[in-house]
Amino acid sequence: MSATRLPALPAFRSRVVPVVVIDDARTAVPLAQALLEGGIDVMEITLRSDAALDAIEAVARAVPAMHLGAGTVTRAADVPRVVDAGARFALSPGCTDALVDAVRAAGLPFIPGVMTPGEVMRAREHGFLLQKLFPAVQAGGAALLKALAAPLPDVRFCPTGGLTPDNLPSFLALPNVAMAGGSWLTPADALAAGDWSRITRLAREATALSRSA
Ligand code: 3PG
Repeated sequence: MSATRLPALPAFRSRVVPVVVIDDARTAVPLAQALLEGGIDVMEITLRSDAALDAIEAVARAVPAMHLGAGTVTRAADVPRVVDAGARFALSPGCTDALVDAVRAAGLPFIPGVMTPGEVMRAREHGFLLQKLFPAVQAGGAALLKALAAPLPDVRFCPTGGLTPDNLPSFLALPNVAMAGGSWLTPADALAAGDWSRITRLAREATALSRSA
């Protein structure tokens, strides 16, 4: 375990993090602009498609106001690739020693994924006090987060997996939830159709929900 200080996450305002799968890198920039228009200044482009690295590169270059994270970073070898593409931080559904070594070596802010108390404790030992609870709803949802707060009060979470506008407020209202993420903001059919006004509408709705939570 290294004592090296972990780099801080970029300071974004939004408490809602869109989790995006991009099949055509040309959609990435208008998508990022549509999210910004709806009040969301952070996004996670997942490494779940061949277009992901090109999409990250395009947004990093053209939309500097967007705090851009690379998601689904599951292997150490992904880390230099997302850094080269211009990601400002990374998220993972889990946490391995090799990944932690790689993000430290790259100086890349990182949100490790966890699902059990032991995983939370292990990620905390590595110095991560903000962790992604994944898959949040399937693992126990808001009740699980409340239960984790008692023994592990110093850890804050970004729950993702199964979140919707209906259950978002119940997550954001929890004191140990820093932000919440999900794919509902960027439906595949809206991306394919270039329906940016629908994305902006979904972003506005989520922004309003996060302000009233
Ligand atoms: C993630 O990687 O955070 C999840 O796949 C998002 O889950 P959702 O599609 O249920 O929002």
